[in-house]
Amino acid sequence: MARESDGARRTESGLPLDPVYGPDALDGWDPARQLGEPGGYPFTRGVYPTMYTARPWTMRQYAGFGTAAESNARYRQLIANGTTGLSVAFDLPTQMGHDSDAPLAHGEVGKVGVAVDSVEDMRVLFDGIPLGEVSTSMTINAPAALLLLMYQLVAEEQGVPAHRLTGTVQNDVLKEYIARGTYIFPPKPSLRLVADVFRYCRAELPKWNTISISGYHMAEAGATPAQEIAFTLADGIEYVRTAVAAGMAVDDFAPRLSFFFVARTTLLEEVAKFRAARRIWARVMREDFGAQDPRSWMLRFHTQTAGVQLTAQQPEVNLVRVAVQGLAAVFGGTQSLHTNSFDEAIALPTDKSARLALRTQQVLAYETDVTATVDPFAGSYVVESMTDDLEAATLALMERVADLGGAVAAIEHGFQKDEIERSAYRIARETEAGSRVVVGVNRFRLDAEEPYEPLRVDPAIEARQAAALARLRSERDSGAVASALAALRAAASSSSQDNVLYPMKTALAARATVGEVCGALREVWGAYEPAGPL
Ligand code: 3HC
Repeated sequence: MARESDGARRTESGLPLDPVYGPDALDGWDPARQLGEPGGYPFTRGVYPTMYTARPWTMRQYAGFGTAAESNARYRQLIANGTTGLSVAFDLPTQMGHDSDAPLAHGEVGKVGVAVDSVEDMRVLFDGIPLGEVSTSMTINAPAALLLLMYQLVAEEQGVPAHRLTGTVQNDVLKEYIARGTYIFPPKPSLRLVADVFRYCRAELPKWNTISISGYHMAEAGATPAQEIAFTLADGIEYVRTAVAAGMAVDDFAPRLSFFFVARTTLLEEVAKFRAARRIWARVMREDFGAQDPRSWMLRFHTQTAGVQLTAQQPEVNLVRVAVQGLAAVFGGTQSLHTNSFDEAIALPTDKSARLALRTQQVLAYETDVTATVDPFAGSYVVESMTDDLEAATLALMERVADLGGAVAAIEHGFQKDEIERSAYRIARETEAGSRVVVGVNRFRLDAEEPYEPLRVDPAIEARQAAALARLRSERDSGAVASALAALRAAASSSSQDNVLYPMKTALAARATVGEVCGALREVWGAYEPAGPL
């Protein structure tokens, strides 16, 4: 939060921030219309009538590194420490559709997440974890369909039928073009694949959340709260339009859409942000798309505390930042939460720092009274006023995206990226000038930082993964793989009525690899090349 040169303070979205809010801040405010009841339209106060009084949010720690066996050990440790949902981080080769032995994969195997090349790795990843009893989120976008199908194959081997599986694939490729970069195919086939996942899950995995429409990465790239929700909801509108154009009725898929936002240290504005986002989405779905099912109106979301606000300097101070950010998410009514480890600005979390991050959530859930009542900020002069202001600013930005022709057209104009880069530059300037305080960095510094020993990924992982791939290719029925990939190419090149997930599942079951399946789709759809500098 920065101060203007005259000492005045504005919100992170650049909105006026009164030093003292009073009744005049809510002139003409109609609680019935603006708030509604918890669990009722427009869901400002939360998506469930009882919220955390009935069930705390899901404690879902994002984790994954090295081989499937190493990540499996971390998941078991998190479950033993009380985590209530799994969240898989994949390495970049997997996210970009390359095998661990591909030249492009060199140096990245197992680095920012777990290496998954085939259904064999998926089986090891969830070894000993009963998939009928846990909900699993997978942060995978361009190849989301593949990892979902491999998860289903492994669950079926465990005897868990697909219709019982709960979890989420991120499957949000639009934000990858805007801020994160792990896209593969051009927008048109990418959106077709997203719609195919919606249709496949409607038919085969009815309890699975088909997408996690994300603002987190845009926020981490510098987006303000208003930009974060405006660009995220605009992406959501593009996905809804795509599924409707593919012939689906809005209530057939909208209840399984989900969202993902950041929680910054600026707690009050973040609480207002979540409440404004729920209210806008409810109105978009009921009034613009005519959704009739109340579950289609509900904006259910996961939150991760702001990684970009963690410092490498005095890293233990990050424990305090994460606790405040976690509180913002809880006051904002999140359904699922990841609290960052205090050492993440330095390296991968150690077992101890990962446990501390989870303990932070457990203190919020079981030692405070924030779960004892629903939406405690309701009626607050400052939060309700900020909610209204943020809603107005967000709608104005969504209008600008709509005027450009929607999210994809705006992406092709570079609009969202330009807006976010301008915000990032302002934040950098304010930090440089000291008007935005970062404790330990531009104020309250130490003369000499204390030493810290980070966790390191085993450098031999690439050779191990390559050997496993060679063994897999020698043992499988290569004819079955070749014909399955040919069928996949045929479906991908046909009209968009052929759901590619069915031939894709056959290929993966025959132990085709991530690189081979994505390679077959690249042959048909090509690879996305951004127009301007990314
Ligand atoms: N009253 C009634 N029912 C309730 C309730 C209440 N108070 N609280 C919960 N429930 C029910 C829900 O209805 C749900 O049942 P259903 O599935 O049959 O509808 C069940 O209990 C589980 O509750 P939620 O669905 O609220 O919680 P989940 O944790 O299962 O799902 C989600 C939350 C947001 C909908 C889901 O999409 C999710 O888990 N998302 C996680 C996404 C994620 O982890 N992303 C990680 C990103 S990391 C990343 O991107 C990389 C890095 O760069 C940051």
